[in-house]
Amino acid sequence: MERRRFLADIARYAALCSVVPTDWRVVARPRFADDPFTLGVASGDPTSTGAVLWTRLAPRPYELDGGMTGGRPIIEWELADDEAFTKGVRRGRYTAAPELAYSVHVEVEGLAPDRWYFYRFRAGDAVSPVGRVRTTPAAGALTPLRLGVASCQNYEQGLFTSLDHLSRERCDLVTHLGDYIYESGGRQGAVRTHHSVEIRTVEDYRERYSQYKLDPMLQAAHLMCPWLVTWDDHEVDNNYASDFGENGMESAEQMRARRAAAYQAWWEHSPVRVPRARSWADLDIRRTTDWGALARFWMLDTRQYRDDQACGDGTQAVPCGDWANPARTIMGAKQEKWLSDGLGASRSRWQVLGQQVPVAPFDSTVGPETKLYMDGWSGYPANRDRLLAEIALKAKNRTVVLTGDVHSNWVNELHAGFDRPGREIVAAEFVGTSLSSGGDGDPVWRGSAEVMPENPHVKWHSARRGYMICDVRPDAWTTEYREVAYVQRPGAPVTTPATFRVEHGKPGIARV
Ligand SMILES: [Fe+2]
Repeated sequence: MERRRFLADIARYAALCSVVPTDWRVVARPRFADDPFTLGVASGDPTSTGAVLWTRLAPRPYELDGGMTGGRPIIEWELADDEAFTKGVRRGRYTAAPELAYSVHVEVEGLAPDRWYFYRFRAGDAVSPVGRVRTTPAAGALTPLRLGVASCQNYEQGLFTSLDHLSRERCDLVTHLGDYIYESGGRQGAVRTHHSVEIRTVEDYRERYSQYKLDPMLQAAHLMCPWLVTWDDHEVDNNYASDFGENGMESAEQMRARRAAAYQAWWEHSPVRVPRARSWADLDIRRTTDWGALARFWMLDTRQYRDDQACGDGTQAVPCGDWANPARTIMGAKQEKWLSDGLGASRSRWQVLGQQVPVAPFDSTVGPETKLYMDGWSGYPANRDRLLAEIALKAKNRTVVLTGDVHSNWVNELHAGFDRPGREIVAAEFVGTSLSSGGDGDPVWRGSAEVMPENPHVKWHSARRGYMICDVRPDAWTTEYREVAYVQRPGAPVTTPATFRVEHGKPGIARV
């Protein structure tokens, strides 16, 4: 592995040193010495009439440009009713381009609602793996939904055993709540080789996505069904906030350049349909997906528009500094208005917030002092209380928040505000643990038992690795927590330690 990396690096630097003008010509019949579909295929952002089909041509993924040698290759895509592609439904061509890493984003339209299809790509003589994709139910339909929820897949800290199990769950849809890659790396505790340098350029981020996308378990999970993807901090920089980097060593201009590189590479590797931005640094990824009239997903971005953490990152005693200032925001004014207007206008049975960091507070110290996690909504209490007040007004007890980030499972009843105790319950938050980040994990997070009495809104907690499976129906939302006991060696079986249920329109979360 090391030797291969070394040789790849040599080839890369040689490529950087030699001045080879990029060939921009369209290549009608591209030829590949190696399989160009090493990074797999994926689908995402389904509607009732279409979806995005994704791949990226990368015959030698660790080389600059994925081993592609220029040109704009024309590739073909196919969509069929059957896995053997005897009943074709749609087909077309797509011209990939070097400036976008030869990524492919096909937006298929004209499909029937609530239907499964199969898709694949052809490039030259090569044929891609076959993925399954489905459309959402028609407007007005209350068809049930089986949803997988995943986040935080640090490559070096654990095997993707959780994704292996997820790929056999027969989900209709998977949402990934961020930390799809990690920008930093340390070899300590690593169970597999990872590049240990902090990454900054678009080439760096592409290489990191390549490394992750090569994992067969991640590829298999994408083959199962369409995904709704958002990002968290590690797609750019740990705990970054808007133009503020983690360690304060980068200027705002440097952070914008880094964001542009990271956001572009994220787009190049994600099966998403997002509006065109003037600059990659301003890529706007908030969007909605409707599952008939059953559920509306609001995919949020709580990274790009937030104020810097008030009193440093990590867990801090509050009040402190500017923490309680009502002008501080985690969503940004535009996104906040978009969501609150939208919650009022939507007649969907369930409102689902797909987002990054915990909404509920967690006081992590015993006694009268309060210590909170400043990188979550607890670092932005005024914005949180405004959000919860909007939910109370517009979608009370039919709102479910899905959260990642903290590498542990939490079931939180959300109250109309956490500014004082005793406000009514208005929503449910299911925080899902990491797929692999943090290594094997523990039954519970260290120190959590003593402080649980100070956090009565927390109904359950565990700190193992895994994912969630949600069964969504008109009258009830059920979340099953799936866990694996270890990820630092292969083969952990999957268990379901706890299941929770929310009745539509009723306050509270009940353990089943
Ligand atoms: Fe993470």
